[in-house]
Amino acid sequence: MIEQPAKQRKNLFVNDVSRPIYHFLPPANWMNDPNGLIQWNGQYHLFYQYNPTGANHANMHWGHAVSDDLVHWQDLPVALAPTSGSVDEGGIFSGCTIDNNGTPTIFYTGVSIGYDTQVQCMATSQDDLLTWQKYSDNPLIGTVPTVAKQTREFRDPFVWKEGEMWYMVVGSQIADRGGVVFLYQSPDLINWDYLHPLYAAPETDPGAVWECPNFFKLDDKWVLIISHNSHDVTTRVHYFVGTYENLQFTPENHGIFDHAYLYAPLTIQDDKGRRLLWGWIREGRTEEAYVAAGWSGVQCVPRVLSLDENNHLLSEPVHEIETIRKNGQHFSDIVLAEKTDITARGLNLDISAEIECGTEGQLTILLASSEDGSTRTVIQYDTASQHLTLNTEKSSKSGSDHRKNYVIEHLLAADERLELRILLDGSVIELIANKRTSITGRIYPTNPDDNFLRVYGNDIILRHMSIYEMPSIWSYEIG
Ligand code: FRU
Repeated sequence: MIEQPAKQRKNLFVNDVSRPIYHFLPPANWMNDPNGLIQWNGQYHLFYQYNPTGANHANMHWGHAVSDDLVHWQDLPVALAPTSGSVDEGGIFSGCTIDNNGTPTIFYTGVSIGYDTQVQCMATSQDDLLTWQKYSDNPLIGTVPTVAKQTREFRDPFVWKEGEMWYMVVGSQIADRGGVVFLYQSPDLINWDYLHPLYAAPETDPGAVWECPNFFKLDDKWVLIISHNSHDVTTRVHYFVGTYENLQFTPENHGIFDHAYLYAPLTIQDDKGRRLLWGWIREGRTEEAYVAAGWSGVQCVPRVLSLDENNHLLSEPVHEIETIRKNGQHFSDIVLAEKTDITARGLNLDISAEIECGTEGQLTILLASSEDGSTRTVIQYDTASQHLTLNTEKSSKSGSDHRKNYVIEHLLAADERLELRILLDGSVIELIANKRTSITGRIYPTNPDDNFLRVYGNDIILRHMSIYEMPSIWSYEIG
């Protein structure tokens, strides 16, 4: 058991209002995918893709942090580093951790310098996950199945047990076809047999890679989550919900898990039986800008997954995050008019709202707005078109970020209320509507006073709205 209270961090970014304060990110430098999530002795361990020497994607290690409550984190030493002259000398890419009968066991992808060779490797710990020993005979899986037709893209093992057998899925591509997830099995975690593609892209999409597969049972269905990497705007997290019998997965529904910056999620089941998901929130600014800032990449607030009766994959932030809310303002049964009805301030907020929309209803929420509204982030719902918008085109005066307007169809049933949850944390906005439409955006505020929140609309009844301030989850070293 690793003891809290947390070893304190140095506060290296005192005046950077863009840097989130209640989302997990390392003390400095680059982070991408969550890795190796596991609950051990009741504590949650989060590993992550980490460059200890800079805020750019290079030199991948596994960073490590632990939490008692899913809210506050203690930084731990780097868990895995590349070994020169070995199959992982170019980096330790993503993977998972499992409990092998009391031995914590990591599966990760080792890559060569330049990433041309990607192989599946193992490491174990004898001291409750603090230090890790790589398996002497790595790699466990050293070649891509021939059906892939000679791709180098082969990574991110995800392992689970059924009965006496272990299974692994690995993300890859079939060269002329698109993304694929390969299925393996093993009786002992060492010897792995390739079985067949668990699932491949239903439409031809040459060049695309499916990364970071997750495959798990949820209620009486099976869920496959993949991160579709096509190096363009279609890079998104997809999910498939279906049945899994005789090692064959048959999807019955497909959806987009997040429409913007959340990527490469990883899930685990915790001791409360919840399926929890962490995801990397990518940067929306240039490499030059984040290298200059000295930090890059954030984890989403962990989410609890569930399914609705239409096989939509639903997600909501873990309720633990609510324990740090402060200074709540609550509004009920307000008929919105064109002029501002609600004003609040803050760049670190947790907002929830339940809204009844008339047939021509339009709701607008401005966030991180300057007093005159010239800088603003706009969330809108339009009942006639049933579209949810996150407009970040005027979010920042920083000039180095990508300004985007996300307009996503969000259908409501006839008597269904619009339920919004908005986690604003400096440059991060997690927007979730009715648990099933998720738009995670990036804004880069530069002025701490551009922090007005305004709500207005027409043909809208705000049944309920709560706005809470959110404090920092870190305690910093003094001096
Ligand atoms: C996803 C990903 C993974 C890979 C890792 C490398 O973001 O590309 O496929 O293992 O990042 O950092």
